[in-house]
Amino acid sequence: MPRLRGRRLPCAIVSTLISLATISGLYQNLGPRPPPLEGAQEVRWIASSNSWVDRKACKWFGVCGASHLSRKGWTSKTSNEIEAGKQGLLGGARTKDEMDLSDFWISGESRPEDWSQDERVLRKIPKYVFDYAPLVHLYSGEQFWPCDIAEHLLHTRPYRNYTPIYGEPSHNLTDLDSLNKYGRWTYLQSVDNVEDRPDWLGGEQNIPSTPHSGDGDDDEHSPGREWPDKELPHDGADETWYNVGVGDTEDKGGVRPLPAGSPVPIPIDREEEEQTDHTGRKRSQERQVDRRTAGGRSDAPAVLVVVDKGNNVTDAFWFYFYSYNLGNVVLNVRFGNHVGDWEHSVIRFQNGEPKAIFWSEHNLGQAYTYDAVEKIGKRPVGYIATGTHAMYASPGAHPYVLPWGLLHDQTDRGPLWDPLLNTHAYTYDYLNDTLRASTRTPLAPTNWFYFSGHWGDKFYPLSDPRQYRFAGQYHYVTGPLGPRFKNLGRQRVCQGNMECRLRNWIGPGGAGVSDGAGDGEEVSGEDTKVRLAEPQKET
Ligand SMILES: *[C@@H]1O[C@H](CO)[C@@H](O)[C@H](O)[C@H]1NC(C)=O
Ligand SMILES: *[C@@H]1O[C@H](CO)[C@@H](O)[C@H](O)[C@H]1NC(C)=O
Ligand SMILES: *[C@@H]1O[C@H](CO)[C@@H](O)[C@H](O)[C@H]1NC(C)=O
Repeated sequence: MPRLRGRRLPCAIVSTLISLATISGLYQNLGPRPPPLEGAQEVRWIASSNSWVDRKACKWFGVCGASHLSRKGWTSKTSNEIEAGKQGLLGGARTKDEMDLSDFWISGESRPEDWSQDERVLRKIPKYVFDYAPLVHLYSGEQFWPCDIAEHLLHTRPYRNYTPIYGEPSHNLTDLDSLNKYGRWTYLQSVDNVEDRPDWLGGEQNIPSTPHSGDGDDDEHSPGREWPDKELPHDGADETWYNVGVGDTEDKGGVRPLPAGSPVPIPIDREEEEQTDHTGRKRSQERQVDRRTAGGRSDAPAVLVVVDKGNNVTDAFWFYFYSYNLGNVVLNVRFGNHVGDWEHSVIRFQNGEPKAIFWSEHNLGQAYTYDAVEKIGKRPVGYIATGTHAMYASPGAHPYVLPWGLLHDQTDRGPLWDPLLNTHAYTYDYLNDTLRASTRTPLAPTNWFYFSGHWGDKFYPLSDPRQYRFAGQYHYVTGPLGPRFKNLGRQRVCQGNMECRLRNWIGPGGAGVSDGAGDGEEVSGEDTKVRLAEPQKET
């Protein structure tokens, strides 16, 4: 048995350990599971611990770092922090109060005054993308709110694995990809010990403002479609928009020949004001609805990436960033924390009509038909789980991976966030990996997008008092890669290009379908997907 700090550990934890060991076998037979560490890495990870008992318990029983459950040492200075302090890396951290973060967001390299008409067409975002922008409810008891990547960069420093990269103290949105020369094992590591819960981590200042509304905004939700008794799930497979484009390839950075008969250019190039609906009356009604029900603005910007998939199909990717992901608790033990958290939703359009919506959630993700989802006006409504920020189509508890709801996400109708009110909008050509600031936010920098490292700390070694691992699940996992690595060229609306079944109802009923790739939950830090498809931007 590992050396437990007897009196300090409640019985609950001991029984938890036993339960964890028991269900570990079960766990391993339930996909999706993170890939195990590679042999040498696993050996190094275990060997990092100074405790003989910890090392043996880990190796023989898979109970790694049981003594770390006591929280002793979680909030003390970490060796990395002390090292960083010695190297003078801590001094440069500035806070949001000292600067205007929006300066970073208008520091892009493009010169809109020089854009030709053709160039403007490539940068134009069709109006329907904004008309059908999602609205999302954060959780009422959330502790880790949306954040601004510009601020995240002020509080992180580049590391190569666990070693600071000297002489590279600070980066911003316009020079982040210069770190790519250090290879893909680059991590933006928090300068602060995140267990100390520094303010920037929680993003409390970014809680969406309360919109002005006469009546309660709950009335304005039109509910999603209920689980149909007889109808079979609609999988969309027979629709022309279901499977489009040529898909992402492994060498995303390379220039690829255009396949014959493929992409049609984005058809819409009209100013927003020129758009007309069927009647003027309808328009003003809609505007009124929008004004009454619009969610609040967050100071944390969303990132919109619009991708033309050919066949008159357009995917609108909405990215949401959080500086910290607080994992969920299983039997009293928390797993899966990480620094940096990218989540996204996708709305797929054909001929300007919304067809399908995908919400990212852990290694899974669920797609719905547009008709099925809850709406405010015509805008789809999503729910963001507390801590993990996984996205769902309905409020409530959402079990995943483990049976009996042991592990679940929680969503509710907390603050309503309208990402449209603060968005940096881009178009992306996935065939040659080109991101462009859109005409809506022409000065938005694009450089950060090409950063090929991780947006948070590498999973901590076993020697770190904050780290433990039971049943293959880590307390701290590695921060995710950025939006460029979320399969933007996907042929189907789901993140993986595997099975993608669209639900035409929301809420319980029917089996969720795994679609492969994870969203910031790469437990080993070097998930297989990345290893296979690590793209490098062309130089
Ligand atoms: C971003 O960093 C570069 C290089 O250090 C610097 O020249 C630039 O002024 C910075 N941008 C802002 C908005 O501070
Ligand atoms: C593409 O969509 C537009 C409307 O957004 C429509 O006018 C046009 O006919 C469509 N083209 C094709 C080839 O379907
Ligand atoms: C990528 O393709 C677009 C047209 O689809 C073209 O305008 C652009 O120059 C290309 N960029 C590169 C780097 O090849």
